[in-house]
Amino acid sequence: MKAIVTGGAGFIGSHLVVELIEKGHEVHILDNLVSGHLKNVHPSAVVHIEDIQSNEAKQVIIKEQPDVVFHLAAQADVGKSILEPRMDASVNINGTINILEACHEASVKKIIFASTSAVYGDVKAKLAPENIATVPISYYGLSKLSAEGYIRLFYQLYALPFTILRYGNVYGPRQLPKGEGGVIAIFLDRIKKGQALTIFGDGQQTRDFIHVKDVVRANMAAIDRGDQEIFNVSTSSRTSLTQLIDHLQSIHGYPITTVNISSKHGDIKHSCLDHKKAVQLLGWKPYFDIYQGLQDTYSYSFRP
Ligand SMILES: NC(=O)c1ccc[n+]([C@@H]2O[C@H](COP(=O)([O-])OP(=O)(O)OC[C@H]3O[C@@H](n4cnc5c(N)ncnc54)[C@H](O)[C@@H]3O)[C@@H](O)[C@H]2O)c1
Repeated sequence: MKAIVTGGAGFIGSHLVVELIEKGHEVHILDNLVSGHLKNVHPSAVVHIEDIQSNEAKQVIIKEQPDVVFHLAAQADVGKSILEPRMDASVNINGTINILEACHEASVKKIIFASTSAVYGDVKAKLAPENIATVPISYYGLSKLSAEGYIRLFYQLYALPFTILRYGNVYGPRQLPKGEGGVIAIFLDRIKKGQALTIFGDGQQTRDFIHVKDVVRANMAAIDRGDQEIFNVSTSSRTSLTQLIDHLQSIHGYPITTVNISSKHGDIKHSCLDHKKAVQLLGWKPYFDIYQGLQDTYSYSFRP
């Protein structure tokens, strides 16, 4: 199979590229390196340094005629979306439309889209299934939700098959200490530097942290399954920032200091996604619980 991974030089995309290549697939990457790095990229992947909003990016897809496009390139920073909503919309909405037009023209068999729990907003339910109301509270969540709408319409109008994967907060090796869900990378970076961990609010906010390798496995499962479906890709368990710090304390083995400051605009208090549908229809479930995942990520961060 030939695949194009947009955002393949980024955190999640680069792990997906490794897995695709190890499974014997031909992989092309479309990435403008705004937050990705060539050092992340597997040497067997062909890299096209283009912006997903450009005609050049479109032409790459039309020329290469991939079987599957994994669309991960995005403006993925919630805070930046609040400060620069037009830029966020350009990349996440216009960029996605550009990729969809190219996929349609190239008769791509499927587009697999990286969406986010941010489309739900501040969820009151303990465990959010895919069909609850989507009321984003950041422009990032809104732009990703709009992109999902375009993907659905490209299927209705042009029969371009899709799977939408809404990730929880992804963490793991190679994540940079910034951006959406970057709290674990930020904490590990500060622990390494011997600095205090900053907690926004009271530390009781919870997230559904999912290890990057489990996210990659969900993308792989979506190649042949889950057509025209939306799936939560999550552990279905809540971890508060306070619990996260306790785990890191136990793994690190030395005292960790913390400081509390007021919470940020656009921040969601609780987020936990029900992954039952992905278990049933994708035949997928996460391997890593939070403690194992943190151990794995800690070992990477503290490697010699
Ligand atoms: N990390 C998370 O916790 C998380 C959670 C939910 C969803 N997601 C989604 O997963 C995807 C990957 O996220 P990530 O954490 O790996 O982020 P990342 O910033 O590491 O990766 C994004 C990649 O896209 C590239 N990119 C950005 N804008 C581009 C553009 N205009 N043209 C071409 N390339 C561009 C960047 O250079 C980078 O390589 C994103 O779509 C993000 O919204 C991430």
